[in-house]
Amino acid sequence: MEAYKIQQHKYDVIVVGAGGAGLRATFGLAEKGLKAACITKVFPTRSHTVAAQGGVAAALGNMGEDDWRFHFYDTIKGSDWLGDQDAIEYMCREAIPAIYELEHYGVPFSRTDDGRIYQRPFGGMTTHYGKGTAQRTCAAADRTGHAILHTLYQQALAHDATFFIEYFVIDLIFDEEGVCRGVLALDMNEGTLHFFRGQAVVLATGGYGRAYFSATSAHTCTGDGGGMVLRAGLALQDMEFVQFHPTGIYGAGVLITEGVRGEGGYLTNSNGERFMERYAPSAKDLASRDVVSRAITLEVREGRGVGEQKDHVHLNLMHLGAEVIHERLPGIAESARIFAGVDVTKEPIPVLPTVHYNMGGIPTNYHGEVVQKKGNDVDSVVPGLFAIGEAACVSVHGANRLGSNSLLDLVVFGRAVSHRCAEIIKPGAAHKDLPASVLDKALGRFDGLRNANGGTPTAKIRGEMQRTMQKDAAVFRTGETLDEGSKKISAVYDSFKDVKVSDRSLVWNSDLIETLELSNLLSQAVATMHSAEQRKESRGAHAREDFPDRDDHEWMKHTLVNIDENGKSSFDFRPVHMYTLTSDVEVVPPKKRVY
Ligand code: FUM
Repeated sequence: MEAYKIQQHKYDVIVVGAGGAGLRATFGLAEKGLKAACITKVFPTRSHTVAAQGGVAAALGNMGEDDWRFHFYDTIKGSDWLGDQDAIEYMCREAIPAIYELEHYGVPFSRTDDGRIYQRPFGGMTTHYGKGTAQRTCAAADRTGHAILHTLYQQALAHDATFFIEYFVIDLIFDEEGVCRGVLALDMNEGTLHFFRGQAVVLATGGYGRAYFSATSAHTCTGDGGGMVLRAGLALQDMEFVQFHPTGIYGAGVLITEGVRGEGGYLTNSNGERFMERYAPSAKDLASRDVVSRAITLEVREGRGVGEQKDHVHLNLMHLGAEVIHERLPGIAESARIFAGVDVTKEPIPVLPTVHYNMGGIPTNYHGEVVQKKGNDVDSVVPGLFAIGEAACVSVHGANRLGSNSLLDLVVFGRAVSHRCAEIIKPGAAHKDLPASVLDKALGRFDGLRNANGGTPTAKIRGEMQRTMQKDAAVFRTGETLDEGSKKISAVYDSFKDVKVSDRSLVWNSDLIETLELSNLLSQAVATMHSAEQRKESRGAHAREDFPDRDDHEWMKHTLVNIDENGKSSFDFRPVHMYTLTSDVEVVPPKKRVY
């Protein structure tokens, strides 16, 4: 192995990732007097949060009656009773101060006539425990993620956080006692290696949407944190639950916000029928995403799709009028024109369910601390390691996330991590002495991949993985597709042993970076397919045609999955938290989920 020269840096806390969660944590840590470094593979304001459109949920009640307890109930129902109710209570209650803080930091929210934050309806968001429609989603037109990301980056700079931009984090570094002590990273500009030491590492690395062929996620969404956690021998949670957003642009996969339906848009089939009335008589087009995605898939399957191939449906917003579209939905009007050649004031948008979000991820408690099952302790904290945002599974979304609870999750748990770190870390505390050998494993793997000289290009393996996931871990699943998918994805995983990296340089070597990213994606693709295969029920986004019902007796539990270095999966489970943090709300017992 080449003798790499390593530069060492010491901070109180290392944050990996500069999306909404990473920036909220970085800024919060710096604000509390901790020396914080944020390491990011893309420029912060290009992180995928920038693509979030419709808004962020919080029961502010600006547009009518609302209460965070209604939000709590909706989130539990949306999760199909797989969400942890203590964490959901925390998120829905803290949503209100967290959003007002954002407003004060300078997020340019759209406004009501009397100057309050504008809020729109979103799927599954109700008042009075399912009886009315809530207007709960706080919006900055249809560019809410963009507005939040830029504000948080400005605040982080103002509070003196340090950014390491275009650095790729290779692996987590643990000491011999299993305490996370930092990360090894590559400066992609200079081609130099760096050991970032921290009293804590916060993974805010986003989801792994790019395990699929067609996703609303950016090409950078390769789940690097989840890959590192699996390599560290730790379990991921609930990986079988992958959200398909009902309205990706047909053929392009680009997101068209649920805010379109929130503003009054609706779906039609080839008969011009508003088919959601049949699937969700009460909520109709504003049912939760798993319900709407399944309805579209069934319409297409039963021959009522539109277009030459009858393989998609229409999203109509012409009736909203140019003025409303211009004011509230300018971004999607532009996307529809560019990616579908459609003038939304005159024609419907062709749409299809598209992979959008990973409910599963790195298991944490509501402070953002990574937890694992250890003997009788089902929620044992991994010292020094935190995870937030889509990389994490708190679990507030359970089996299906409600739209606009994602931006909320980023902000609330990014903030929670900064609170927790301020409680447990003393600014400037000395770092433990570590032997040089602490980096050996990570360096050995990196050097091995850099010099990989097999016969299969990275892009070929990635293509096989993406097609397998798209076909066999889809909106509807069966024992047969999952069995076939499990064998195929394991074969793809094995084929990585034959990967070829054609460029050995360390400076701007996209072949090497894409190979490192692929290795992170692959283990999570295996975890997803195998976890889906073993869960023999239907719950939220995991719809099995051979087990069409939810089975609370057997399956109201979180899946924990480990993947060993040969790609073999092993499973364990932990119970759903059916308790609350305070007596301000009551546990919501499971019942049939209808919209
Ligand atoms: O439809 C949307 O605007 C997406 C929002 C979300 O995923 O939370």
